[in-house]
Amino acid sequence: MSNILDGIFKKCINNNNIFKNREVLRHDYLPDKLPHREEQITQLGETVAPVLKGSRSSNVFIYGKTGTGKTAVAKYVLSHVEFKAKEFNAPVKFCYVNCCMAGSEYRVFSGLCQSIGVYVPFTGLSVGEVFDRVRAGLDTLKIVFIVVLDEIDALVKVRGDSLLYELTRINETLCNSKVSIVGISNDLRLKEFLDPRVFSSLSEEEIVFRPYDASELGNILLERAKLAFHEGALSEAALSLCAALAAAEHGDARRALDLLRVAGEVAERKGSSVVTEEHVREAEKHIEHNRVVEALRNLTLHSKLVLLSVYHLNRANVHSAITGEIYDVYAELCGELGVTPLTQRRLSTLVNELDSMGLLNAKIISMGRYGRTKKIRLETARTLIREVFASDTRLGRLVEYEAKSLSKPANSRS
Ligand SMILES: Nc1ncnc2c1ncn2[C@@H]1O[C@H](COP(=O)(O)OP(=O)(O)O)[C@@H](O)[C@H]1O
Ligand SMILES: [Mg+2]
Repeated sequence: MSNILDGIFKKCINNNNIFKNREVLRHDYLPDKLPHREEQITQLGETVAPVLKGSRSSNVFIYGKTGTGKTAVAKYVLSHVEFKAKEFNAPVKFCYVNCCMAGSEYRVFSGLCQSIGVYVPFTGLSVGEVFDRVRAGLDTLKIVFIVVLDEIDALVKVRGDSLLYELTRINETLCNSKVSIVGISNDLRLKEFLDPRVFSSLSEEEIVFRPYDASELGNILLERAKLAFHEGALSEAALSLCAALAAAEHGDARRALDLLRVAGEVAERKGSSVVTEEHVREAEKHIEHNRVVEALRNLTLHSKLVLLSVYHLNRANVHSAITGEIYDVYAELCGELGVTPLTQRRLSTLVNELDSMGLLNAKIISMGRYGRTKKIRLETARTLIREVFASDTRLGRLVEYEAKSLSKPANSRS
């Protein structure tokens, strides 16, 4: 065994023909040039510049799909502002919080406290108390405080907009300090989830990040590739393919960088000295596989059971099932686990969700004068479902389970 590993380790250490610095392909790497975002950088820069003279800047609402450079631009501009402020001795501070990772109002507010040096216990206070500490702490500091709330949509959709409500009104009660908010959302429809008053004070300014096209992604990748790869280790065709694939998705720079990194790793594993288009194709499959595995793992219990029911039907050669058939198997699996099944109507909603995730395919078929019916097919490879669910502590034993509702001969089922 150790011989096998020795071989792998040796190959890894000896093969450094490809990457010069793999780290620069990571999502959180902040490049010092952001091509094709000059307009957004200017807009945000102009909006926050008044803080250098001690004024509060307008609140900004930034939105655009994932991988369009929102986080990178916000961090870039604000770190420059903070740097300039030091030079001018202006009392400016900025705090970046990723709301999705923070997960709760409590954690967002305690993040703000931490950045202004106010102690908050990990748990134990009420959200209101933590917020009061933010307020009190700020007022003693006498600063202009810029709060960047990234991925705010994730928090608002789960917890509502009370955090934003409090923050947009905080200036009314501060005497010595001022707060400006930069809200960032991946979801363009966030507005629909917000109270109109909260939305209007948050969006004193709005900045939109459009998706990149293939040629823009090509330029972004080229800049990054110069730092990441050894000279001559990346073929032009491979780079263009990464850009084209990511542009076809939704102009996502993160996706493009992932393809580039994984393609480099594939080339490295194969002992090649140049990353080629084939390596990119392989990287694409690899990433897609991981995406599906991740999606399967993160499903709720009932969605997993619905998918598993379609899996069992598929195994029994029912390649296209109606909701009622799925429900019978699903109810049986619930019985096996001792959980109460949801209603058939709810199951139908879960089927639609699984369809929009691309794990199932649900199609409405017209039956002429017999009306319409929904036919549902498995869109995920059976081997993949087996692979992921077999290691699930609760569901594992249901993967090989022989469903009684399926033991009838296929032609007796309608
Ligand atoms: N214009 C750009 N130039 C260079 N790198 C970029 C650019 N836009 C995005 N990136 C890179 O792409 C990745 C995703 O960008 P990010 O700012 O996280 O997107 P978002 O926050 O919109 O999801 C990051 O690694 C970032 O450095
Ligand atoms: Mg982001």
